[in-house]
Amino acid sequence: MEMVNQKQSLELLEAEAQIWKQMLNCINPMSLKCATELGIPDVIHKHGGPMTLLELVDALPGVDKAKADCMYRLMRILVHSGFFVLEKINSSNEEGYSLTPASRLLVGDHPMSMKPYVSQIHPILLDPMHHWSRWFQDANNPTPFHTVNNGMSLWELKERHPGFSHLFDQSMASDTSVVADVITRDCRQVFEGLDSLVDVGGGTGTLAKAIAEAFPQIHCTVLDLAPVVAGMDGTKNLKYIEGNMFEYIPPSDAVLLKWILHDWSDEKSVEILKKCKEAITSNGKRGKVILIEMVVDDERSNTESVETQLQFDMIMMTLLGGKERKEKEWANLFSGAGFQGYRIYPILGLRSIIEIYP
Ligand SMILES: C[S@@+](CC[C@H](N)C(=O)[O-])C[C@H]1O[C@@H](n2cnc3c(N)ncnc32)[C@H](O)[C@@H]1O
Repeated sequence: MEMVNQKQSLELLEAEAQIWKQMLNCINPMSLKCATELGIPDVIHKHGGPMTLLELVDALPGVDKAKADCMYRLMRILVHSGFFVLEKINSSNEEGYSLTPASRLLVGDHPMSMKPYVSQIHPILLDPMHHWSRWFQDANNPTPFHTVNNGMSLWELKERHPGFSHLFDQSMASDTSVVADVITRDCRQVFEGLDSLVDVGGGTGTLAKAIAEAFPQIHCTVLDLAPVVAGMDGTKNLKYIEGNMFEYIPPSDAVLLKWILHDWSDEKSVEILKKCKEAITSNGKRGKVILIEMVVDDERSNTESVETQLQFDMIMMTLLGGKERKEKEWANLFSGAGFQGYRIYPILGLRSIIEIYP
């Protein structure tokens, strides 16, 4: 009897702990946002070695010295989540904070800095998540974002808030600089033999610029909405076009879509893919579409990567009415748009390169 009671108590306490863990997960992005806004990775990087708590508090611009104990607590949770490490300082008994690979990517002057990406922890993007339940009962709006913004889409709101729009475009560009570095080094075969490429929804052109530099024989075009590309300067083999991908995609050997189709429903994605197919076949060659997207594999194992993919899926549902897809779902889109075949290269961490052939 006692054993049964003990088991019940254990189960009860574990259940309570699981609820706490789920609820308090929101502390993690907030601590990351705070550290990034205060410039903690930048200050430790500039220091050039492990930094004690007091040195850190002294060096952080504008930080109230009386809050050193609170800074210790912020750093403790970020050490726990792997953003900093505590290391012995040479010839002393003191310990100091050092960067890890993740916080090194948050240093502002790192060539692939993801500091701007953290600005996506933004009230405009987070607020709709407080209203999921309201949206499930709201038959009039396609996403929670529309529900809380009087029916406006994210792209419409961006046009009305230039400050937020700039942050958003910068954040996308920072993610793209990491991808650009990897694909121009490790995935050269994807681009070899191409004479022209159009990056559809290519934002401010970070990826197309990197491809144009790494492959000078490819004529690259960035197509995006007018407010995103207005006034952007091209180069010898890079140009910008303002336009709507649902209406026209310029003829090209290859059409690149990085993180575009996950923004859209299946119906809209098939529409976009059909336009891409027209663009590659009207160039007179057998071209291809190149996607950079996640392929969700939630049956394989319950790894942290799968959890991140599922979290991205919820973000897409919330902000844009898009989704992260499994291979079968991708294959249905490709055949729905009239493509004959595809190949997945799972070489970009949580994302893959997918080539689609007409
Ligand atoms: C998630 S962002 C991805 C940007 C870029 N491909 C990247 O990964 O950095 C989606 C992009 O699609 C663009 N976009 C949205 N609707 C569009 C449309 N109808 N035609 C062209 N571009 C569009 C947005 O302006 C934005 O730059």
